[in-house]
Amino acid sequence: MDHDETELSTAEIDALARRIDRPVVLVGMMGTGKSSIGRRLAAALHLPFVDADEAIEEAAQLSIAEIFERHGEALFRDGERRVIARLMDGERKVIATGGGAFVNPETRALILSKAITVWLDADIDTLVERTARKDTRPLLKNGNPREILTRLREERRPAYAEAPIHITSGRGPQSRTVARVLKEIDAWL
Ligand code: S3P
Repeated sequence: MDHDETELSTAEIDALARRIDRPVVLVGMMGTGKSSIGRRLAAALHLPFVDADEAIEEAAQLSIAEIFERHGEALFRDGERRVIARLMDGERKVIATGGGAFVNPETRALILSKAITVWLDADIDTLVERTARKDTRPLLKNGNPREILTRLREERRPAYAEAPIHITSGRGPQSRTVARVLKEIDAWL
């Protein structure tokens, strides 16, 4: 075990949860595990969890793929910004955003000003492996997924790097990534 792998105790996590006064927003590429890490993080903090992509699908009554097909990416980004703005207000929660949300300058500014922002990153092999489990992502349908993911990861890195907290989610257990996110939020607050 690394020297920095000591985890917060339950009492420390409870104390941290009381200090969290804003939404916790996870940003980063498709396949980094934002939704599953977000769900576990929310459970640890006893906060509700919201997947922004699901909220967009609910608001539009269409799947993400259908929104891209019928209305195009630009309109999807606009809807995404509005849904995230709505999620940002109200009760405290953990929000997983779609991979492109934080790349949109307006959405990024909104998240940075109102949330505790955590960038989840992973190496390209991990992204390829995890995204291959679902075939619902429109951006990966027109070409070689590894090439698309590699390009997007490079293009988007400067935007993601604006997040104050950066965690690499490796191949180890998700509980370890969650523990690291909790420690980083605790240190940052
Ligand atoms: C996208 C990522 C997806 C979804 C849409 C576009 C992107 O979310 O919002 O397919 O631009 O990276 P996940 O990151 O949850 O896969």
